Amino acid sequence: MSTLTGKKILVIGRGSGIARAVVTAAQSEGAHVVVAGRDPHTLREVYGAELAVEPVDVTDEASIAALAERLVTVDHVVTTASARARGAVSELAPETVALSFATKAIGPILLAKHLAPRMPEDGSFVLFSGATAVRPTAGMLAVAGTNGAVDSITKGLAVELAPIRVNAIAPGTVDTGAYDGLGPETKAALFAARSATSPARRVGTADDIAQAVLFVLTATFLTGVSIAVDGGETLV
Ligand SMILES: NC(=O)c1ccc[n+]([C@@H]2O[C@H](COP(=O)([O-])OP(=O)(O)OC[C@H]3O[C@@H](n4cnc5c(N)ncnc54)[C@H](OP(=O)(O)O)[C@@H]3O)[C@@H](O)[C@H]2O)c1
Repeated sequence: MSTLTGKKILVIGRGSGIARAVVTAAQSEGAHVVVAGRDPHTLREVYGAELAVEPVDVTDEASIAALAERLVTVDHVVTTASARARGAVSELAPETVALSFATKAIGPILLAKHLAPRMPEDGSFVLFSGATAVRPTAGMLAVAGTNGAVDSITKGLAVELAPIRVNAIAPGTVDTGAYDGLGPETKAALFAARSATSPARRVGTADDIAQAVLFVLTATFLTGVSIAVDGGETLV
């Protein structure tokens, strides 16, 4: 029996990509998964009636407080919520940068504020950082700054919420649909370039990341770290 069997795990995000892979992986370990996001209608369509679906907007404290009331208790929280903030510094609007921070950095602080009091001592949070925090590329300044903040917040929350554990996963380039906005040719060229230089010689899959999430959820001596799951992309 897995240590996640019967545990209530809240997974926040969209009904696809990394969030969906985490849901599937956690269910395969026997967890009781609750999914939450801004679009519960789509989440219900994706997951069907057997999975509990909750509305939440992680930039809205009242929405998080209401979710906490409805959940009553929770063992683990995984938040993949992220707002796109790509763009060269010359083009970046302050609202874009602020929304990125509100979603990935402040959101987890508010989740901790309202959900940690409802968690057992062996509960945990999993945040999402990204490879840009340690290896920014041009046009990714706001994403890099947001991910750097996530890394610091992960450490700070781990100290403050102890013994509840707080960790982050920092993916490299992962084919989740997040790059579809580039168009098929640009996306294929980017993935080919990243695959050519990455020590893993490929881009990641959502399942690669979900396996890492299972590890941090169950590694009871692990807290306050951001784990790079990037195929070595940040080494080169
Ligand atoms: N894919 C990669 O290569 C990569 C690389 C580095 C880091 N990451 C990180 O890994 C995580 C998951 O990545 P992904 O590619 O699977 O997903 P993603 O494309 O980054 O999607 C994240 C989803 O979060 C939801 N969201 C946005 N704002 C929200 C809010 N205020 N409240 C609740 N949900 C909100 C949105 O779904 P709705 O529109 O349905 O609300 C959005 O589609 C993200 O944190 C991402 O930054 C990914």
